[in-house]
Amino acid sequence: MAERGLIIAIDGPAGAGKSTIARAVARRLGYLFINTGAMYRAVAWKALQMGVSLDDAGGVGRLAYDSLIELTGEVDSMRALIDGRDITSEIATPQVGQAASIVSAIPAVRRALVARQQEMGRAGGVVMEGRDIGTQVFPEAEVKIYLDASSEARAQRRFAEDTERGVAVASLEQMKAEIEERDHRDKTRADSPLTQAEDAIYIDSSAMTIDEVVEKILKIVKQK
Ligand code: DC
Repeated sequence: MAERGLIIAIDGPAGAGKSTIARAVARRLGYLFINTGAMYRAVAWKALQMGVSLDDAGGVGRLAYDSLIELTGEVDSMRALIDGRDITSEIATPQVGQAASIVSAIPAVRRALVARQQEMGRAGGVVMEGRDIGTQVFPEAEVKIYLDASSEARAQRRFAEDTERGVAVASLEQMKAEIEERDHRDKTRADSPLTQAEDAIYIDSSAMTIDEVVEKILKIVKQK
């Protein structure tokens, strides 16, 4: 039987560098990269677009079940589509990030998206990043990383990223406050809160470069 690629789960709070690092690891291994945050963002974007209240658990849950969410393209040019429409740049805003954090607390939304993520990653050879990959989506993942960083470091990175992307940015202080608010919501929600899986390896990236983190993860993968 052909050897199946590994499932590499990378979880952690907003701005810890998960996407950049997961993408780099996937590129180096020739693996699929799946950014699950984009799927929660897509649901939030559509709810905002359709005027469905983010607090309407039934309405947003139905919307998540009824929408076709696709992540397509190569590792470095991934696009997010909902019902065939490319919304990659629309979902990259801090507003959609906050809205995604709100809708991601709705159990029906999580059930719909987790089932799709399991389908997408089941064959292995995948780096999947999010909040609950090592705990809920793939508790059996061969490699689990919990990527953390101080809220100061994360606010600074998000600030630099958003400036580069040209999305309207708030002050650094406001960014830090928003990150802390999102952390609090993501870590205290009843359904699948952000926590480190018992068997995950903890990496604090505050004082590390992207390359250092990527090399560290590749070393862990090699040992498997
Ligand atoms: O990683 P991100 O900032 O794009 O994620 C946006 C929000 O989606 C985040 O605040 C929490 C939610 N999310 C989640 O609950 N579970 C995941 N696996 C990924 C994201």
